[in-house]
Amino acid sequence: MSKTLQAIRGMNDILPEQTPAWRYLEGALADLLDGYGYKEIRLPILEFTELFARGIGEGTDVVDKEMYTFLDRNEESLTLRPEGTAGCVRAVLEHGLSGGGQVQKLWYAGPMFRYEKPQKGRYRQFHQIGVEAFNLPGPDVDAELIVLTARLWQQLGLADAVTLQLNSLGSSEARAAYRDALVAYLNERFEQLDEDSQRRLTTNPLRILDSKNAQTQALLVGAPTLADYLDEESRLHLEGVKARLDAVGIRYEINNKLVRGLDYYNRTVFEWVTDKLGAQGTVCAGGRYDGLVTQLGGKATPGVGFAMGVERLVLLLETLELLPAELNSRADVYLCAFGEAAELAGLGLAERLRDAIPGLRLLVNSGAGSFKSQFKKADKSGARFALILGEDELTARVVGCKPLRDDAEQQNIGWDALAQHLAACLQALE
Ligand code: HAM
Repeated sequence: MSKTLQAIRGMNDILPEQTPAWRYLEGALADLLDGYGYKEIRLPILEFTELFARGIGEGTDVVDKEMYTFLDRNEESLTLRPEGTAGCVRAVLEHGLSGGGQVQKLWYAGPMFRYEKPQKGRYRQFHQIGVEAFNLPGPDVDAELIVLTARLWQQLGLADAVTLQLNSLGSSEARAAYRDALVAYLNERFEQLDEDSQRRLTTNPLRILDSKNAQTQALLVGAPTLADYLDEESRLHLEGVKARLDAVGIRYEINNKLVRGLDYYNRTVFEWVTDKLGAQGTVCAGGRYDGLVTQLGGKATPGVGFAMGVERLVLLLETLELLPAELNSRADVYLCAFGEAAELAGLGLAERLRDAIPGLRLLVNSGAGSFKSQFKKADKSGARFALILGEDELTARVVGCKPLRDDAEQQNIGWDALAQHLAACLQALE
């Protein structure tokens, strides 16, 4: 026998029992974003590698270690997108969507790919729902993005399970000055740094701030902080975001060490974090990236956005048992037919019922079978009623209608009255 093939490590099938939860989350967010005036954009999964190298930044883990990059048949270097912002900016530029200072409020959803070490909540193919807003330089839109995520948590019952961390990275000049100060401080303590942080000291020193190493964290206690280097405009911007969050009662924690793993951010950065999922607790993260559009060849265009991790949110909803019971939709009606003539008549009847009762969940037995086997399948389907069509019913032009969830008697209903009868029975059960 040949070897059974398996999925690639960290790339998961999302099975039929899981998809209702995904659709529930995706649907809630799509409706919410619609309500705030954000429009969907659909983007390719593959882009030229250069887009990510320039957009996300060499020296970041994502670009240096985690991209799925390959040469296509034309010897072009392509990469499976590790995130959505760079591609969204590319599309906005390519189609002139931000030209003339036009405001764009966009969202996208889909798989992203990072060669990370898989564990609970961290996969190599994972899904994000991302939101990006262009040409809005003020703190009002940063706050709007946070407010709309808070509304989602409220709707899903997650409000008490997540907390908001907020920081400002300042202008690129302020950050550069801070970087120098941090590097000088850490260079004096180089030998005490963990190996990863030693490497990062030259490639991406700000990332040392969120090192998980306890000794490195202890060293950082006396280090200069980003807040000390914040430029006045960025300080006011942050105050503007905070004032708006205060105005609508959204609690946050200012975390000076929050720097994010992608290079394009300036000013506002934020993460929604939960302690219910173990190590991979960030369910939504984002910030402002006013320099990214120019970095990718466009005119200066402010941008800000975030992305949510769909797997992590579904896991959280499952863990906290917050998924509505009715998500696993069951059938309303199961039609059993015995013999070829009954099957043919049954098919026509079923289609007439679908015409008459919109949204009806009707399963027509497939694969024939004895009375016993068809009834067993009807029962297993969770249907509330079985319809029975045999030779006798065919001759009399009736259908046996048997309630499956209580002891009520089976009734014979004429074909012409069936739709009305079923609709009334189903409504009575609601
Ligand atoms: P990110 O922080 O890299 O940001 O990812 C956003 C979210 O995607 C994370 O908070 C997490 O929930 C989820 N995520 C990331 N990596 C994985 C993984 N390997 N497995 C499962 N979930 C994961 C970005 O991607 C930015 N593009 C967000 C953004 C949009 N900033 C501005 N606009």
